[in-house]
Amino acid sequence: MSDLMQKIQDCGATVGIIGLGYVGLPLLIRFGEAGFPLMGFDVDARKIDALLHGESYIKHLSIEAVGRFLADKQLVVTIDFDRLKEADCILICVPTPLTEKLEPDLSYLLDTTETIARNLRPGQLVVLESTTYPGTTEEMMLPRLRRTGYELGKDFHLAFSPEREDPGNPRFHTGNIPKVVGGATPRCLELAVALYQKAVSRVVPVSSTRAAELTKLLENIYRNVNIALVNELKVLCGKMDIDIWEVIEAASTKPFGFAPFYPGPGLGGHCIPIDPFYLSWKAREYDFATRFIQLAGEINISMPYYVLDRLTEALNRQRKCLNGSKVLVLGVAYKKDIDDDRESPSYVIMELLMERGAEILYNDPHIPRLKPGRKHDFRLESIPLTEETLRETDVVLVVTDHSQYDYEWIVEHAPLVVDTRNVTKNVGKGREKIFKA
Ligand SMILES: NC(=O)c1ccc[n+]([C@@H]2O[C@H](COP(=O)([O-])OP(=O)(O)OC[C@H]3O[C@@H](n4cnc5c(N)ncnc54)[C@H](O)[C@@H]3O)[C@@H](O)[C@H]2O)c1
Repeated sequence: MSDLMQKIQDCGATVGIIGLGYVGLPLLIRFGEAGFPLMGFDVDARKIDALLHGESYIKHLSIEAVGRFLADKQLVVTIDFDRLKEADCILICVPTPLTEKLEPDLSYLLDTTETIARNLRPGQLVVLESTTYPGTTEEMMLPRLRRTGYELGKDFHLAFSPEREDPGNPRFHTGNIPKVVGGATPRCLELAVALYQKAVSRVVPVSSTRAAELTKLLENIYRNVNIALVNELKVLCGKMDIDIWEVIEAASTKPFGFAPFYPGPGLGGHCIPIDPFYLSWKAREYDFATRFIQLAGEINISMPYYVLDRLTEALNRQRKCLNGSKVLVLGVAYKKDIDDDRESPSYVIMELLMERGAEILYNDPHIPRLKPGRKHDFRLESIPLTEETLRETDVVLVVTDHSQYDYEWIVEHAPLVVDTRNVTKNVGKGREKIFKA
């Protein structure tokens, strides 16, 4: 047995995680719980500082374990990437966003790869976890690592294993979500499988890094396309005066062959709106147009405009116009009960509302103030939800369904409620004030 395999089997291999965000931090904790010595790397010194002071920057994640690992000297967190040499297994969890032109932005990954190459030493396993198009691991990372003169599968090992984190999901977490793994060589695969088997309940090996890369994209494209389908049907149902949510609930009683997806005000988050474009971009190299992705993208991107139309219509029925109306947006996180507002549809809607002269207020129990983002700069603070604030708005727009919201009470005190999530379905009194969007 090789030194590295032996160390993995004994849980003695030092696991270094690059990028301690929504994916990297829970992964670090899981490997720590499995007993591995740990190193956490991030370019953001504030994150490293927060961890050293026992503060979590991810609201739904308890980092008590991190404090324990630090105290027991099981964990080092650092911005000093020269220390990558000390890690036996390096797992990469850095962002893979899109550029302004909706093309893959691999700059974070390529920077990281160069840094690893500068610190590579024989006997290391490098695994990419960030979502990306098929071919990234072996076309973009491998040549850079090979320039060191070290040989793949002998001196160093390379694999891809997509993250399947679902922040805030109480049922599934890093430890009990099966992990797909593809290796650049059979030996790379063996080592990566052995490593993950120590930390997660089930490991699913596939034949190549490209198959593993596409697996992640298929999962996210599947969601993207199905959400587009129900979004399109929602618009049709609006015209036909049929309740789309009632229809989905009824169809969900079919015990086979149907998985429910729900319409919404537009896509949000770091994965579903972004990842499909990684594949359509790569497909162009093969003279291939990914038409489902294109169509789903068009429909999903149009949803905030649909919400805006419905909101305008709702105000109109009360003889009010959007220009000058006070709109209270409920929720800027992209989904329920988390503090992640990346690519949130709330921002697109808020921008459209502002362009049309509406005054925007917002409430989000998880996001107290809006920081300037890549595409927007609202500089607003979450206002408290009181009878008075509700009464003083012209319309309340429900975008995110946080558990804290009491819709019965909101509908009672707001003059008008536009509901994009079907969260007011059980509200009794004041139904005439509710408008579905
Ligand atoms: N958030 C999710 O739910 C989720 C789920 C599945 C997959 N993913 C994928 O996982 C990857 C990471 O996503 P995330 O949500 O954890 O992002 P994130 O922004 O929360 O975390 C990324 C971290 O990497 C750090 N970083 C950036 N550049 C770096 C560099 N050059 N070296 C070291 N650290 C660097 C950032 O400071 C940040 O802390 C992405 O590819 C994403 O698509 C995310």
